[in-house]
Amino acid sequence: MDAKKKLMEELIAEVNVCRRCQLWRHAKNAVPGEGSLDAQVMFIGEAPGYWEDLKGRPFVGAAGRLLDELLSSIGLRREEIYIANVVKHRPPGNRDPKPDEVEACTPYLDRQIKIIQPKVLVTLGRHSTGYVFSRVGLKFRGVTEVRGRVYLKRLFGMPIQILPMFHPAAALYNPNYKAVLAEDFKRLRAILESL
Ligand code: URA
Repeated sequence: MDAKKKLMEELIAEVNVCRRCQLWRHAKNAVPGEGSLDAQVMFIGEAPGYWEDLKGRPFVGAAGRLLDELLSSIGLRREEIYIANVVKHRPPGNRDPKPDEVEACTPYLDRQIKIIQPKVLVTLGRHSTGYVFSRVGLKFRGVTEVRGRVYLKRLFGMPIQILPMFHPAAALYNPNYKAVLAEDFKRLRAILESL
């Protein structure tokens, strides 16, 4: 079997029975992540919500539909990208993940990034952006300040372009964010064209 596929299958098997924090107790399914293991761009969300928990797949609810729309606006399909979350089990009632849960779960995300070796990391929202920024030694004060900008860094020995964006769920509450997201996706298209 292809080395990447084997490593990711091992990871998914571990995530599915993970007990490193307490979130599994309330969850129906783990949501390890999915997509192309050779993706040039990897998206990182926050945590599974109601529908993701039910189906065991990332971004399959309302925020996922908006994500699909944004992807298709720049000619990308889900199958071409990889999507994962900072935490792999749904926090009860969709509360924010706690720092100890993020700490327990992010070794999985780190492994996913090392397996896929994406050229571009799109961080969706403050949890994902905060985590990735902390990993590359960048200060993080909030998404508004950094969204749509490209941060050229090294992560796990690989050069990587980090492009933070608002979380699509935020645009479901504040429609003004939708145009901002659309603009940031155009930036992503330009990056991908330049690779
Ligand atoms: N929001 C997220 O951050 N991740 C999902 O998978 C779904 C909604």
